[in-house]
Amino acid sequence: MKSTAVVFISGRGSNLEALLRNQEHFQIMAVLSDRSDAAGLRLAEEFAEEHDQSLAIISADRARFCTLSEQKHALYDAVDEIQPDIILLAGYMQLIEGEFIARYPQQILNIHPSLLPDFPGLSPHKMALEAGVAEHGCTVHVVTEEVDGGPILAQAKCPVEENDTEESLAARTLAREHLLYPWTVNAICEGALSVSPDGTVTSSEALTRSAEEHHFLLPPR
Ligand code: GRF
Repeated sequence: MKSTAVVFISGRGSNLEALLRNQEHFQIMAVLSDRSDAAGLRLAEEFAEEHDQSLAIISADRARFCTLSEQKHALYDAVDEIQPDIILLAGYMQLIEGEFIARYPQQILNIHPSLLPDFPGLSPHKMALEAGVAEHGCTVHVVTEEVDGGPILAQAKCPVEENDTEESLAARTLAREHLLYPWTVNAICEGALSVSPDGTVTSSEALTRSAEEHHFLLPPR
């Protein structure tokens, strides 16, 4: 049986699309957004129609709520009704509250476009260029209350090239994100990658080989 997933987005939704196109060991039940104008919501609607997939599209615009907390809770309540196995953040721009994280321990994942722990937070590509690093990349990690600070599940590298701009580096990184995120989520849902309550990440031997083939990095076994 496939694991059930929901995806949170705020914008373009290219990682959401990569996840939708690679639902091998998981099935996306709903896409949620803090903005009803997020392009990714249209994309999800079109995908659902084209593939005859039942997919709830849920948005909660800030203007509809008196407080930010009420807005966030509207989305959390929608997730609680679904009770998914896994919650995927894909370009979701709001901070997730501790109370919600505690309800889904080790079940909320995020993709961040840097080789964490380097360059957490906003503008990671700019920070990487300013730091003059030779390699950049992306990280899938478990969400904790520390922004971009939870246990690292998998990473993919890409080179920083001479004359790179923020845009060119972001595009090269994004291409790696689209491969890494679905691969990692499938590995978790298949049981080939797991994270214990203390944050220790364990991977199967087969997954370690697959990571080598894809040039992905897993935490040491
Ligand atoms: C991606 O770079 C992701 O890593 C970051 O926000 C961006 C979202 O892009 N968290 P998209 O909406 O998936 O196209």
